[in-house]
Amino acid sequence: MYIALLGRQPEISIAELAAVFGADCVNRISQQFAKVQTSQFDITTLGGTIKCAEVITELPASRTDKASLLAASRFITQHYQAKWAHSPHKITLGLSAYNLAVGARDVQKTGLILKSSLKKSGTSLRLIPNDQPALSTATAHNNKLGGSPHKVELLLIKTTDRRLIIAESRGVQNITAYTRRDRHRPKRDAFVGMLPPKLAQIMLNLALGAGPLTRQRSHDNSVTRSDSSLSDKSMVLRTALPDAFDLEETAGIRAAVTILDPFCGTGTVLQEALLAGYDVVGTDLSQKMVDYTTENLSWLQSTFTAPGNVIDIHQADATTHHWPNSTHLTAVVCETYLGQPFSAPPAPQKLAEVAGNCNHIITGFLTNIRPQLAPNTPLCIAVPAWYDASGRATHLPLIKNLQKLGYYQLNRTPLIYRRPDQIVARELLVLKPIDKTAPQA
Ligand SMILES: C[S@@+](CC[C@H](N)C(=O)[O-])C[C@H]1O[C@@H](n2cnc3c(N)ncnc32)[C@H](O)[C@@H]1O
Repeated sequence: MYIALLGRQPEISIAELAAVFGADCVNRISQQFAKVQTSQFDITTLGGTIKCAEVITELPASRTDKASLLAASRFITQHYQAKWAHSPHKITLGLSAYNLAVGARDVQKTGLILKSSLKKSGTSLRLIPNDQPALSTATAHNNKLGGSPHKVELLLIKTTDRRLIIAESRGVQNITAYTRRDRHRPKRDAFVGMLPPKLAQIMLNLALGAGPLTRQRSHDNSVTRSDSSLSDKSMVLRTALPDAFDLEETAGIRAAVTILDPFCGTGTVLQEALLAGYDVVGTDLSQKMVDYTTENLSWLQSTFTAPGNVIDIHQADATTHHWPNSTHLTAVVCETYLGQPFSAPPAPQKLAEVAGNCNHIITGFLTNIRPQLAPNTPLCIAVPAWYDASGRATHLPLIKNLQKLGYYQLNRTPLIYRRPDQIVARELLVLKPIDKTAPQA
């Protein structure tokens, strides 16, 4: 059993976890945390989880947070004294308390007690200093906490129903790797937009979790069809949709996964897809962007281990293009045209003009691609939503017309990715074409 520290937009993180592990296996236990029933958790494949940890114990509700911390402290001292006494390795320990009204020094005290009791049995412990009750991602990452049995972060989490979970970190978001994949690319373009690599990862997971394929995260990063996915375990997002796959024919067969990004820009989605082991096709209206993607993907393949294959990158208008072999695509994942960037909310007339233009292009794209896709091909697309100074959003009109355009929207709650004060947010839509040939239920 694992717990996941959710990202800045927890609904998006939860949707990603549900897409990857199955809705039934993911439970929100507090504002910041979800519990995930799984025996394996690889944080590097998830864009929306900040820290992950394996549950060691759950303590019953205490009357006060101080009493909860005291109970946790007793458990930790006993458990880890027994575990680490006479350890040949020096232990590095970090402690993080979440949702407990206690100070950093209170949390640190638990570590100091453990440190002095371990010293008596000959084990040396380095305690990471806390200036907040919880260690930051950067501190946990820089100290490699969760990366080995001797570098441990213990997370103390008060749940919404006041239980206390004690969990051992198994990894933290690799901020250095994300920065390399983002800032170190040879071609970037602030005007076209900078899709964060972790959001691209989330979008890939949302799309593939909504499809008939579920990744079994094997060592070679390949993707297999699995019975568990076909038995509908992985579908928080799914409405009651007919599944056109023949279980007997497909069970156990290793399938190539091909992702199309028809608005590829500088290639962030395709880069994350290649790293995850998927094959990629990319197109963009602008030849300059096609060149940028091509150069960025060559750099990626020469710099990282990226097991997927680049099948084709070419110039094309997504509102009219016919993609060769489009029925073989596994998923369509893209950040569509978002219109011009704004640093202040636009005047109503300007907003209407920009929103109308984006609506026109994205409607054209959805209309064009729908008949080209095999039934059940999932899409995860990021479209713009504009925020005014009071935090009110203007959404694309087409979102209300998705059924008329021939799509089911699978996410039932809005998934908005937005930095504070950002005017143009990204709204994620997880879609599936309506299969007009399927028998009506
Ligand atoms: C928001 S950017 C995508 C950025 C991309 N996710 C990245 O990582 O750089 C949108 C892209 O859509 C392209 N675009 C605009 N209209 C298009 C159309 N009709 N067909 C295809 N691409 C289009 C633009 O050239 C731009 O590269």
